Amino acid sequence: MCGIIGYCGDKNASTVLLEGLKRLEYRGYDSAGICVGIDKALKIVKCKGKIKDLKAIVPENFPGNYGIGHTRWATHGEVNDVNAHPHTDGSGKVAIVHNGIIENFQTLKNKLQREGHEFRTETDSEVIAHLIGTFYQGDLEKAVREAIGLLKGTYGIVCVHADEPNRMIGARNGSPLVLGVGEHEMFLGSDVTAMMAYTKQVVYLEDGEIVDVTDKGFRTSDYDDREIAKEIDHIDWELQQIEKDGFPNFMEKEIFEQPESIRRCMSGRLDTELATGHLGGLNLSSKELLEVERVKIIAAGTSYHAGMVASYLMESMARIPASAELASEVRYRNPIVERNSLYFAVSQSGETIDTLFAMRELQRKGARVLGICNVVGSTIPRESDGGVYIHSGPEIAVASTKAFTSQLMAFYIFALSMARMRDMSYETGHTLLDGMKAIPDQVVRVLEQKNAIRDLAMKYSSSENFLFLGRGINYPVALEGALKLKEISYIHAEGYSAAEIKHGPIALINEQTPSLFLVPDDRLREKVISNMKEIKARQGKVIAVAVEGDEEVGDIADDTIFIPSTHELLYPFLMVVPLQLFAYYTALDLGRNVDQPRNLAKSVTVE
Ligand code: F6R
Repeated sequence: MCGIIGYCGDKNASTVLLEGLKRLEYRGYDSAGICVGIDKALKIVKCKGKIKDLKAIVPENFPGNYGIGHTRWATHGEVNDVNAHPHTDGSGKVAIVHNGIIENFQTLKNKLQREGHEFRTETDSEVIAHLIGTFYQGDLEKAVREAIGLLKGTYGIVCVHADEPNRMIGARNGSPLVLGVGEHEMFLGSDVTAMMAYTKQVVYLEDGEIVDVTDKGFRTSDYDDREIAKEIDHIDWELQQIEKDGFPNFMEKEIFEQPESIRRCMSGRLDTELATGHLGGLNLSSKELLEVERVKIIAAGTSYHAGMVASYLMESMARIPASAELASEVRYRNPIVERNSLYFAVSQSGETIDTLFAMRELQRKGARVLGICNVVGSTIPRESDGGVYIHSGPEIAVASTKAFTSQLMAFYIFALSMARMRDMSYETGHTLLDGMKAIPDQVVRVLEQKNAIRDLAMKYSSSENFLFLGRGINYPVALEGALKLKEISYIHAEGYSAAEIKHGPIALINEQTPSLFLVPDDRLREKVISNMKEIKARQGKVIAVAVEGDEEVGDIADDTIFIPSTHELLYPFLMVVPLQLFAYYTALDLGRNVDQPRNLAKSVTVE
C-alpha cells in the first residue's frame, strides 16, 4: 500500500528513485512522483498513472543526488496528477512522501488554513509538509519531530528540505520503513525491494522511531530524541527473485514456483525417522506445546483462507479445538484471551495492519502470538512471540498464490508435530509425512495441465457470475478460488460450502452461472456429488476438480480437471492450484492486468 523511497548518495537520484519505484509498484499504482534536490531547490515531477508514465515525463539527465519518490494507492482524494505525492509546504522547500492515513488531518488542515496556509491537494498527507514547514528553523529533523507530535494515525514518512541537501528524515508509526545502508549512499524505502539493486544491508525501523540520514551515515532516535542503537541486517533474497525471469508476469511465475517454494518450506522440517515435524523459532518447549488446549488463527484475505484450512487440520490431526478469524474483526471486539490458547498471526507480507493491530491487541491481553510470515524482517515476525518463516521468496503479484500453499505447509508441519506429541500413531504420522513429501511433485503434475485449464478458462470467461463449492477442509479452498477469480478477472464469484447452496445460493443458478465443484475422494464425496446433481437438474453448468480415475464425477460434470490422489487431508494443495490457474487464464483472456488488478495493492498497511 503506497510505496515510498528516499535516496542520498553519489548516484543520479532520479535514476535510483525510478528504479526503486518500479520495484515498489506492486504496493500501489494509481499515480507516482519524484522530488529531486539540486542547487538548494526541489524539483518535482508527478502524474496520474504507472511508473512508466512517470518515467516518460521525467527529463533525461535530471540532475541531483538526493530525493524522494512515491507510488500511490489512493485513500484521501481522487486519483489525479495533483494528489500524487510528493507534497510540499507553501514555500516549496519541504517535500514529503507518506504511506498511511492521518486521521486528524482535517482538524490540522482547518487550523493551518486559518493561519493562511494554502492547500493544493485533497490528500491527508499534504498537511504533514505544511506542519514541517511551520516548525522549520534550520534543522529538518527537529521540525519533523515537532510535526509528527501532532499527527494521529499511521505513517511512514520520508522528508527532504531544499536548504539541507543530501539529508533526509524518515519517521515511522504503523507503516513500514526500512533504511538501506550502501557505500557512500543511503536509502529509505517502504520495503527492501526498493533498494535491493543497490544494497543488501538494511535497518528495520520500529514504530516511534525517527531516522536522520545523510550520504555519510544515519542516526536513529525516539520521539523524545533519545538515540537508539540499531543493528544492520543482511537480506538474503536475490535480485533475480524479484524479476520476472522469463515469465510474462509475476503471477504466472509465482504459480509455477510452487513445487519449489513448498519444498523450501518443508526443507529441514520433516523428521522421517520419528514421523513428525520440527519448526525452529516457535520459542515453546515440548511441555508448553503439550499444554496448548486451543489454537486460534488471525489473518486477512488469502492468509485467512490458509488459516481456515489450518483450523480443520489442528482438529482432525491433533484433536485440538481450533478456529480462524478475520483479524479486522478480532481487534475491535475486545477478544477474550483464554488460558492455554496459542494464537497464530498469518501474513505473507508481515505488514498487514489489520493482522498486526489484532496481534498487538491480543498480546496486550497476555496472549502468546506466533507469526507465520513470508517477508523476513517484516513487522509481524519481529513483534510476534515466535514463529515460522515460510520461505516462499518474494511474492510480487498482488494476488497471493505461492504464499498460500507454503502457509498451508507450515501449518501441516505444525499440526503433524502437535498430533504426534498427542495421540497420532507412528504409522498414521508416516502416511501423512509421505503424502506431504509427495506434494511438490504432484503440484508439478497439476501445473502440467495448464493448457487444458487455459482452454476451460477461455470457455467460461464470458460468465458474469461463478460459484465455487467445496466441503470440509476444501471449503476454504473454494473461498480462495472465488477470491482469486474475482480479484484478478473482476467476474463476480462466491465461495460456499457445497452443502449450503440449497439454503439460498441455488436461486442464482441458471445456464449462465457456472459452479466449480471441488470433489476429492474423501468421506464427503457422495454428498458433493448429490450437490452437483442438484445444480445440473437446474440447467446449471458444472466444472469439477476431481481425482484421477473418478469417472462418475467426469460423467456428471460438463468439464473436469483431474488431480492426483493424495491423503484426504492434503487435497487443499492440489485443489487450489487449478483454481489459481483458472483465475489467471480467465483474467488473461479478458485482457486484465493480472499482476496489478484494479483498485488493489499488495501489503495492505491501512485499516
Ligand atoms: C489475495 C490477497 C489478499 C491478501 C491479504 C492479506 O490474493 O493477496 O487477500 O492475502 O491482503 O495479506 P497478507 O498475507 O500479506 O497479510
